Amino acid sequence: MSGHGPAIPMTARKSVALRGVAEIPGDKSISHRALILGALSVGETHVTGLLEGQDVLDTATAMRAFGAEVIQNGPGDWTVHGVGVGGFREPDCVIDCGNSGTGVRLIMGAMATTDITATFTGDASLNKRPMGRITDPLAQFGAQAFGRKGGRLPMTVIGAPDPVPARYKVPMPSAQVKSAVLLAGLNAPGQTVVIESEPTRDHSERMLRGFGAEITVADTDEGRVITLTGQPELRGQSVTVPRDPSSAAFPVCAALMVPDSDILVPGVSQNPTRNGIFITLQEMGADLVMENPREEGGEPVADLRVRFSALKGVEVPPERAASMIDEYPVLSALAATAEGVTIMRGVKELRVKESDRLDAMARGLEACGVRVEETEDSLTVYGMGTGSVPGGATVQTHLDHRIAMSFLCLGLATQKPVTVDDGTPIATSFPAFEGLMADLGAQITRSNR
Ligand code: S3P
Repeated sequence: MSGHGPAIPMTARKSVALRGVAEIPGDKSISHRALILGALSVGETHVTGLLEGQDVLDTATAMRAFGAEVIQNGPGDWTVHGVGVGGFREPDCVIDCGNSGTGVRLIMGAMATTDITATFTGDASLNKRPMGRITDPLAQFGAQAFGRKGGRLPMTVIGAPDPVPARYKVPMPSAQVKSAVLLAGLNAPGQTVVIESEPTRDHSERMLRGFGAEITVADTDEGRVITLTGQPELRGQSVTVPRDPSSAAFPVCAALMVPDSDILVPGVSQNPTRNGIFITLQEMGADLVMENPREEGGEPVADLRVRFSALKGVEVPPERAASMIDEYPVLSALAATAEGVTIMRGVKELRVKESDRLDAMARGLEACGVRVEETEDSLTVYGMGTGSVPGGATVQTHLDHRIAMSFLCLGLATQKPVTVDDGTPIATSFPAFEGLMADLGAQITRSNR
């Protein structure tokens, strides 16, 4: 929803050992895709473990506007009756994707090869984000888009009446762009080909195959070549959504910052296109063990056992960036409490997320007394060691849930409390964050109480 209520500042204070079991909600990327693919299928899709964050709820509302029946049966338990590939009807309202870049970009792709028109908008954060990266490839299918200057929302997309398949090399590492092209390719006759030079999260490929599409993936000299055969009949499926590794990263990193912590985070996705943060934490010296590895709902998962550890700074290789792109904010916070320097390179995509995350983290860390260096494509954090970060600041979060959660985790281990100017965006991806962290023993309060 684009209507943003009053800001609610939140404050984190030095906490004693975090202990207990952290039940993380469902993966946001997979939740969006489950609803969209369910809507594009014939028959019933049953989803369990759906993330009921505002981003995903906005996608559910959008799918109803395009003609699908989307029903909540109980917590996390949803049913979608789809309209089939090419069956989207023209919405009679503006599609409001709230804070969600994934929602708007995937839905634009999904409708772009159907002979309908839709207008999209979002909140103040989403309406600043670039959409040209989506509308350029969608034009190759024959779709047209009319937005604000710089390719911003609000934007009207006119779906191609006679779509042709596309061959598109994604110019930046982006699963959203890749997925938009694949979803558009569903209703184009013939083969749509997407090439990515750096592999990004592969949930769309896995799930499209699961819903019955013909899709092949080949690693070549050119990069990862994904070929989709258009106009399949997708069939409704049962989808079990694994727990979100990007949300898990917050309690995991908090436990690594607060001395004597020892927590268990069960059933977290270990998809190799998403697990870069856990590899990095182990390189920093984290006592982080993946227990009971298994497969759930077609994704590798494990129980994460994490105990406080005195960490050292590391250099994160740029080729790992795509597999941990959403975890750099919390890693930057954690790096401030490590010994030595952490250098994160190849991360300029962070500048076009819900906020300019490199800038937001750099300014917030500086306000907390941490030395940082920022370039267009990198962030360096000079770690101060456990218990040595001063804190005592109010940090601007720019409507960015991950900036808010990162600084609330940091504030559990700083000398003075850390306040974020607005905690409400946390509900877009991790509505249970406050309660879950409190259950572990974290001292996080709403400042207006
Ligand atoms: C996502 C892809 C990533 C990620 C976002 C979710 C997805 O965005 O940051 O949170 O579900 O496809 P980009 O494609 O912009 O890298």
